[in-house]
Amino acid sequence: MSHTDDGSDHPLEPLAPTEIERSWSIATEERGLSEDARAIEITLAEPPKAALRAFEDGGPKPERRVRIVARDKTEGASYEGIVSLDDEAVVEWSEIERGQPRMIGEEFVEVEQTVTENEEFREAVRRRGADPDLAIVTAWSAGYDFVPEDIDRERRLAHGIAWVQGDAEDEGAEAYNRPLSGIHAWVDLDDREVVKLVDTGPKTEDVVGTLRTSYYREEKRDLREDLEPYNVIQPEGPSWEVDGHTVEWQNWRVRVGFNHREGLVLHDVSYDDDGDERTILRRASWPEVVTAYNDPDPDHDWKAPFDVGEYGLGRLANSLSEGCDCLGYMHYWDAALNDADGNAQLIPNAICLHEEDYGLLWKHYDWRVGDHEVRRNRRLVISFISTIGNYDFGFYWYFYQDGSVEGEVRLTGCNATGLLGDDRETGYAETIGPGHKSMLHQHVFNCRLDFEVDGPKNTVQEVNLREVPYGPDGYDPTPHADADRKHLNPHGNAAYVDRTRFERESEAKRLTDTHAGRYWEIVNEDVRNDATGEPVGYRLMGGDGTNTAFPMQAGSGVVKRAGFAKKHLWVTRYDDDERYPAGEYPNQNPGGEGLPAWTEADRSIADEDLVVWYNLCQTHVSVPEDWPILPAKIVSFKLQPAHFFEENPAIDVPPEHAIKDVEKWKTERQESMDLDE
Ligand code: CO
Repeated sequence: MSHTDDGSDHPLEPLAPTEIERSWSIATEERGLSEDARAIEITLAEPPKAALRAFEDGGPKPERRVRIVARDKTEGASYEGIVSLDDEAVVEWSEIERGQPRMIGEEFVEVEQTVTENEEFREAVRRRGADPDLAIVTAWSAGYDFVPEDIDRERRLAHGIAWVQGDAEDEGAEAYNRPLSGIHAWVDLDDREVVKLVDTGPKTEDVVGTLRTSYYREEKRDLREDLEPYNVIQPEGPSWEVDGHTVEWQNWRVRVGFNHREGLVLHDVSYDDDGDERTILRRASWPEVVTAYNDPDPDHDWKAPFDVGEYGLGRLANSLSEGCDCLGYMHYWDAALNDADGNAQLIPNAICLHEEDYGLLWKHYDWRVGDHEVRRNRRLVISFISTIGNYDFGFYWYFYQDGSVEGEVRLTGCNATGLLGDDRETGYAETIGPGHKSMLHQHVFNCRLDFEVDGPKNTVQEVNLREVPYGPDGYDPTPHADADRKHLNPHGNAAYVDRTRFERESEAKRLTDTHAGRYWEIVNEDVRNDATGEPVGYRLMGGDGTNTAFPMQAGSGVVKRAGFAKKHLWVTRYDDDERYPAGEYPNQNPGGEGLPAWTEADRSIADEDLVVWYNLCQTHVSVPEDWPILPAKIVSFKLQPAHFFEENPAIDVPPEHAIKDVEKWKTERQESMDLDE
């Protein structure tokens, strides 16, 4: 590789704190924003792909540009713009006409203050037998269709709903134990006022007495005492090399990035195949997450937060300084973001890098010679965790020694629950305790995968396992005979894999099919595997967890805004401007943007620079065991090499005795086992 190896000077290097603050001063001065202007987002404007390619080919470094999204509270207007740091000038600037920029942390705090001080709200809390001083309010996104008609939708809004802590000792923790169903406060985020308060009436007059109190904090529980320490020791350090934001590990090479909206971004994922640096992914991220509720109860039917487009997974990322429980050696990257005043704000240790033992990689016992060959599986983990109100989402990328990659989400935290009224056993919600329900809901995690399998031009084909009905005669040995296969199954054993090459975007809007073992292959038809003659490729396959359909109806408020969720797979022709599957500004947006709109063009996607968008849709049918904190629920997908290598690329992984003193280790293990006696 050429000068792209220079970590700190790379065009995709995240913004430094000084760059963030300089961009904001340039924008506010040049555009004359009022004192009341708020910086929603100051983030690297990633250079267009063509400029990055030119740079990699030895061309000039692309211009350093910064994307700014701002809200001027005085004007009641939102803006997006581009600042050139090279020219110290605003080079693009326009008002956001459709939708609102996402909400920011400062606004969450203000919504809670504003609503809890509101006398009408306090009275509504009292009607539920609760102390208004113990009420908390969470700012949910207002959506579009569900904003009451007497509220001007042009205002910047949040929909506040409430919970009550059990007693003053809770100090805000365990806060999501007791929902105060039926209280809805629409708040103007610019004016900091309650625009409308609706109380649909209490479902119980004693919320605190009716619902169980379930504590989870360490000091509030008796902890089990039979757990012994489990340490991971890496006496010679980790097996990776980190240079700036680039990691090399077991032939893998990847650059990490981080922004407000998506959080962690992977750039330029490649594999060193015997000295040949082969690209696989140009960019990978989670550009939208929608959580949508299926309960027609008016307390909940409106709920459909867009956790990326309306809240920002990056901005809500945890600092893993202490809240990270990874074992062994770790490397962290900080994230430099901005606060509402345009000052740089650091999330220390936002991204975690570590290695994990993952059980068996491969093994064979040859009984004739008594030879055991066995290899342990090690994986590299790059992750971050984001807390969106009650929920905590962990995002993990795993790189494996066998050439596969896995994208995984772990959902934990608290379910957003409600009060049972007369709606027991409807199926729209499950009872999780006395008077307490958890509404059926989906979490749809969209992953954007800009593939570049051995080059920019790729093709996607769908693979399905097909049965063959009994046919009368003989076996036709013609390879890939397209003849009517029903004639080729005299004994009833025949089945085959059916490949369908996607030519256009309209053909590539697909659902999973576990019966057919459906998966998709991203291939490069111009590069052939030397051993098989087949195009090199990667498979996109299901991983852990059940990936359900998204059961919301076309025309519903949520499908208008999150139409992308109706299909698991989308494939689009690459376009620098197509970044978020629900559009740039889903907050308070009437909908119709993003993937469904782009793909109306029905562009050719065969042998093109393409992007694969894949949804993991997890449906939660809650049980009391999900309470008070959800044991992490996992959903994932896998990318597996298919004719990319000529053999198992992990055959050269050394056995344990080759990398450590096994005799010494066995002695130490025995000593530790003897402790029991
Ligand atoms: Co859930």
